[in-house]
Amino acid sequence: MIKPDAVGNGHTGAILNDIIAGGFKIVAMKYIHLSKETAGAFYAVHAERPFYGELVNFMTSGPIVAAILEKDNAVEDFRKLIGATDPSKAEAGTVRNKYAKSIEANAIHGSDSDENAEIEGNFFFSQFERF
Ligand code: CMP
Repeated sequence: MIKPDAVGNGHTGAILNDIIAGGFKIVAMKYIHLSKETAGAFYAVHAERPFYGELVNFMTSGPIVAAILEKDNAVEDFRKLIGATDPSKAEAGTVRNKYAKSIEANAIHGSDSDENAEIEGNFFFSQFERF
């Protein structure tokens, strides 16, 4: 997901360019404004964390871009492309280093395993929305 901060600040195109230049194929993509219920369900794994309420508020503060990406070694390579969760720790040239402001408004989300990529892709897209 490209998060509401990056979409709102006009970075969607630049981030998609970085993703494509990084060798990822876009299999599915949509532009949506999450409801509290949908954002809460997506991040249910963090429901007990102290930042959960803020995270849900932030993720519903504006539209996002959700996508399924394909590449060999995609999860690991995507995490390298986007950089550390906390942008102050993200390496130079990474998406979060270039476009993120804080650990919450951190521009982009990437799945942390193949299993979660499957779950998160199924959360947003039907079989008829993948190409
Ligand atoms: P993301 O990769 O989308 O997965 C969970 C998100 O929770 C994470 O990116 C951050 O944006 C957010 N997050 C993680 N840790 C914190 C924190 N300590 N305070 C606020 N938000 C956090």
